Amino acid sequence: MYHKGWYHIFYQYNPYSAVWGNITWGHAVSRDLIHWLILPLALIPDNWYDINGVWTGSATRHPEDGNIYMLYTGSTGNLTQVQNLAHPADLADPLLLRWVKSPANPILLPPPGIGPKDFRDPTTAWLGPDGLWRVAIGSRVEKLGLTLVYKTDDFVSYELLDHYLHSVPGTGMWECVDFYPVLVNGTKGLDTSAVGEGIKHVLKASLDDTKLDHFAVGTYDPVKDLWTPDDPESDVGIGLKYDYGRYYASKTFYDEEKQRRILWGWINETDTEFDDLKKGWASLQVIL
Ligand SMILES: *[C@@H]1O[C@H](CO)[C@@H](O)[C@H](O)[C@H]1NC(C)=O
Ligand SMILES: *[C@@H]1O[C@H](CO)[C@@H](O)[C@H](O)[C@H]1NC(C)=O
Ligand SMILES: *[C@@H]1O[C@H](CO)[C@@H](O)[C@H](O)[C@H]1NC(C)=O
Ligand SMILES: *[C@@H]1O[C@H](CO)[C@@H](O)[C@H](O)[C@H]1NC(C)=O
Repeated sequence: MYHKGWYHIFYQYNPYSAVWGNITWGHAVSRDLIHWLILPLALIPDNWYDINGVWTGSATRHPEDGNIYMLYTGSTGNLTQVQNLAHPADLADPLLLRWVKSPANPILLPPPGIGPKDFRDPTTAWLGPDGLWRVAIGSRVEKLGLTLVYKTDDFVSYELLDHYLHSVPGTGMWECVDFYPVLVNGTKGLDTSAVGEGIKHVLKASLDDTKLDHFAVGTYDPVKDLWTPDDPESDVGIGLKYDYGRYYASKTFYDEEKQRRILWGWINETDTEFDDLKKGWASLQVIL
């Protein structure tokens, strides 16, 4: 996200080792997306609702009150995936050094019919025509990969829609769902809530089964909260990929300063665990 002259990235990080575990949010800032300054940890697993890890999340800036709503998945003591809310302690701080978890956490538990370990990675929220925010969360029912949508007014209480935004049989768990508008004719990026003439929507899912980032372009109906692929033969998970090598768990954000949408993702290297431990770090972040 962009805030007061700085780009912020929050990334999953193990402070104790170069192997996966103890997942905590690292935080770095940049003025140009090239030179980065590593800041103190932003969120650590210190509550029952995230004690097994502070996993993927997304930021939403409220256009009226200017507040930043940070939604993230916590893995609980019994390994249930829940959604949590955090805010910057001081919005006037360009570096957003301190974060405060909401006393309302967890704000979402897995709904009936969804497995406790199949409920993660909330998207940036977008505003619907009824004035309510929508948040999408990836899941699955057996091998049906899908996107749940919740409506909210205040980011604390939510209503689950009675249908999926979209689902595709045979694709398994959808991680790190991303949903955003693009111009049909034009190269400028769009705010996540943009809808209307000349706008299509990209739906992207990271397929847990294959560790590949798949996307499709389609049409979003903001009244029915349904997304339909332009080409059903090339639907999410069975058609296009962002990258055909090692590239996973990507997310986009709208850069309002430069009116562009930035895509960043995670590349796991070919190094062995032994090499990673020797290096003292593992994995790369890349931007497009
Ligand atoms: C997680 O952190 C604890 C220290 O709090 C450490 O003992 C343990 O080895 C770490 N696990 C991993 C996988 O790094
Ligand atoms: C695990 O924790 C969640 C969240 O508190 C709770 O809803 C669920 O019932 C628990 N599951 C088991 C098997 O204890
Ligand atoms: C996009 O541009 C093409 C070629 O100029 C035009 O035919 C089409 O109607 C445009 N579509 C939109 C939605 O503006
Ligand atoms: C890392 O990359 C390799 C090669 O693409 C892949 O087989 C593996 O599943 C990846 N691991 C994770 C955790 O994504």
